Amino acid sequence: MKGVVLAGGLGTRLYPLTHATNKHLLPVYDKPMIYYPVQTLVSAGIKDILIVVGGPHAGDFIRVLQNGKEFGVTHLEYAYQTSGDGGIADALKLAQDFADEEPITVILGDNCTDADITFEVNNFADGAVIFLKEVEDPQRFGIAEVKDSKVVSIEEKPQNPKTNLAVTGLYIYDNQVFSHIKKIKSSARGQLEITDVNNIYIKGGKLRWAKLLGFWSDAGTFESLYRTSVFWARKSLGKKEKELTNF
Ligand code: DAU
Repeated sequence: MKGVVLAGGLGTRLYPLTHATNKHLLPVYDKPMIYYPVQTLVSAGIKDILIVVGGPHAGDFIRVLQNGKEFGVTHLEYAYQTSGDGGIADALKLAQDFADEEPITVILGDNCTDADITFEVNNFADGAVIFLKEVEDPQRFGIAEVKDSKVVSIEEKPQNPKTNLAVTGLYIYDNQVFSHIKKIKSSARGQLEITDVNNIYIKGGKLRWAKLLGFWSDAGTFESLYRTSVFWARKSLGKKEKELTNF
């Protein structure tokens, strides 16, 4: 299995922090944000990785990740998303040659988790697998509606969410993903949405899901960036959450 980290986009929600550096190089506790998604892939045995970068500070990724050997990556490639904030599916398009007809595990560059996805990676057959997590602020995410243990629809940032089951930024796709991306159009926010791609898999009866077990958060807003840093600080210091009211 090959892996793709999507770290394009412009990170405008984090201005002024992202005027002078890329969002994915900001610190999450004691490491640059991008370390976390790379580590999630490597921990699942995925060591052949493409990082899609973008924006004015893209060159800095090489200084931070170099050739990936420090993380146990055996092959590290970079691609550059020229469209700025063209969307997650727009960034994923750039992985087609890298995938070379093989399935890929995709993770968003601002998603930080301690979940282990090895089982789903090793047992992937075809179609798509998404990972769901209950959240308190469902308006911020792609939200899945589940009936009879099947995902029947996903809505991107719904005003009136049907559930609190967020679609996390971790996906496993077969090679059909690239032809599905070609079928979708830009959304109202001017982006090619990964949710539209996932809905195509749902319509074709080819989307499965698993619960993401453990901590998961994006780190793309001030609040989530702070919360994610606190989680890793607490974990690293080896303390339990409830003991840390003063942290
Ligand atoms: O974090 C999970 C959520 O991520 C999902 O629940 C949503 O369905 C999905 O659309 C996405 O929502 P966000 O609005 O939070 O995505 P955001 O624009 O913050 O982008 C997340 C990452 O995706 C970003 O850190 C890098 C990558 N990306 C994003 C864009 C817009 C790219 O590589 N290129 C892009 O053009």
